[in-house]
Amino acid sequence: MSADRFSLSTPIYYVNGAPHIGHAYTTVAADTIARYWRSRGRDVFFSAGTDEHGAKNAEAATKVGKTPQAYVDEASALFSSAWDRLNVTSDVFWRTSSSTHVARVQEAFRRLHAVGVLYEGTYEGLYCTGCEAFLTEKDLDAEGKCPDHLRVPEKLSEKNWFFKLSAFFPRVKALIESGELRIQPDHIRNEVLGLFAQDLPDFSVSRQRVTWGVRLPFDDTQVAYVWVDALFNYVTALGYGDTDPAASREAFERFWPMDLHVIGKDIIKFHCIFWPALLLALDLPLPRAVFAHGYFTVDGRKMSKTIGNVIDPNTLVDQYGSDGARYLLLSQFPFGSDGDVHASRFDEQYNAALANDLGNLVHRITSMVQKYFDGTLSTEGVLEDALVLLSTVKETDVRIEEAFTRIAPDVALREVFGLVERANGLIEARKPWELAKAGEGDDLRALFTDLLGCLHALSVFLYPFFPDASVEIARRIGFSRSESSAPAIYRVTVGEPLFPRIEAKKAV
Ligand code: MSP
Repeated sequence: MSADRFSLSTPIYYVNGAPHIGHAYTTVAADTIARYWRSRGRDVFFSAGTDEHGAKNAEAATKVGKTPQAYVDEASALFSSAWDRLNVTSDVFWRTSSSTHVARVQEAFRRLHAVGVLYEGTYEGLYCTGCEAFLTEKDLDAEGKCPDHLRVPEKLSEKNWFFKLSAFFPRVKALIESGELRIQPDHIRNEVLGLFAQDLPDFSVSRQRVTWGVRLPFDDTQVAYVWVDALFNYVTALGYGDTDPAASREAFERFWPMDLHVIGKDIIKFHCIFWPALLLALDLPLPRAVFAHGYFTVDGRKMSKTIGNVIDPNTLVDQYGSDGARYLLLSQFPFGSDGDVHASRFDEQYNAALANDLGNLVHRITSMVQKYFDGTLSTEGVLEDALVLLSTVKETDVRIEEAFTRIAPDVALREVFGLVERANGLIEARKPWELAKAGEGDDLRALFTDLLGCLHALSVFLYPFFPDASVEIARRIGFSRSESSAPAIYRVTVGEPLFPRIEAKKAV
């Protein structure tokens, strides 16, 4: 990765339903990574957005009696507003129904056509609108239904344009094997390499019967297959395909190839095989890494409207605040593993980690500095030897960087909480109230210099995870997060609890 930049993306989500915590999980994880590298001085480009074409979105529009465009305009806004509430800092929120994206995808198709990697054919097979993908008999369950969407796929026979996927297989495979295209975690990389062993047919990149999509510039009977349209978002958002000679090429040149596509494991075939092959066909560099995280169920079951276990990220923000929602999303299970989420445990998890461990730490330190030093603590003359937390802070800093480098934001978060625990432990062990009683002024000042230094570090370390708390902690100890060295004087204010406790729900 080039040392001074970092570019990454989330998938662009279908808007046939409202955003749920599955989408929020990927997006918050990617945002945490984006914020981390930004805070380390990298020039970051972070893209997010919505996938608005195709039969699935068009069907959703018909159901509510709206035109597809009117429908996707409203539905897409649900995603962007949820991401705003979660403090997601994407540099673009890219929408595939925008005229800019459409024109750029058309140009990409023109180029694919021009280099001779497309050919006309007839597609006959089974199509599942839920997956927006063709299925084979062996993908179906015993009742002949798509196991993910529980519907019988449609039999289709139509003219399509096909992409010569097979011509690019060996190169894609070699690039994954050599690590030039890093697929993480390892079990996903193995799964992808396993896919090459199967006979993956050339795939059709256009549709005749779907009308809600990008019209092919060289065949107006066809629209682009929604997945190809969507994958191109990663480059069109950077300006690829802009035919205006006066248009700036800067963003694309600076940020492509992306350092990282963050996705869920359900869409690895598209990102690790189809997308690299399309890029190779256009002679474009491949992304450096694809990280596919696990899938989670809620209370042991796949999230579904019928079961009624879909969790809206807005509800999480309403109940736990933006930082609290981010915590609950990121802390459930290791990034990369599957997991099961229990909404009934959220209160307890929030209270334990945020209201108690972190919130109390901030409150205890600031209120004791208020009490023992009238809110103003001079660090002058305190020797570094007296700062027992300093080495832990330095080690934590290194370990957080290691964790983000190997794309393990959950590990970085655990490191931060390790430091919180150490600081709470130090207060218990040194009992400042006893030092104060015994009139040990110098020891007390050294201890609080140490603890405030730790809060300073925490405000920096927490920034990728809990942006609001990070800024607030810095404010309460009287300096800005961007100042790297500790101030000579801390001017502390005591405020309301950073993370108000959630009281146990009364039985009804
Ligand atoms: N539109 C395509 C992506 C195109 S990207 C070029 C799509 N959209 S989707 O709305 O179905 O989103 C799928 C993604 O949402 C997953 O890859 C994952 O990032 C996220 N998740 C959806 N449900 C999830 C869980 N239950 N658990 C974890 N992540 C989940 O596919």
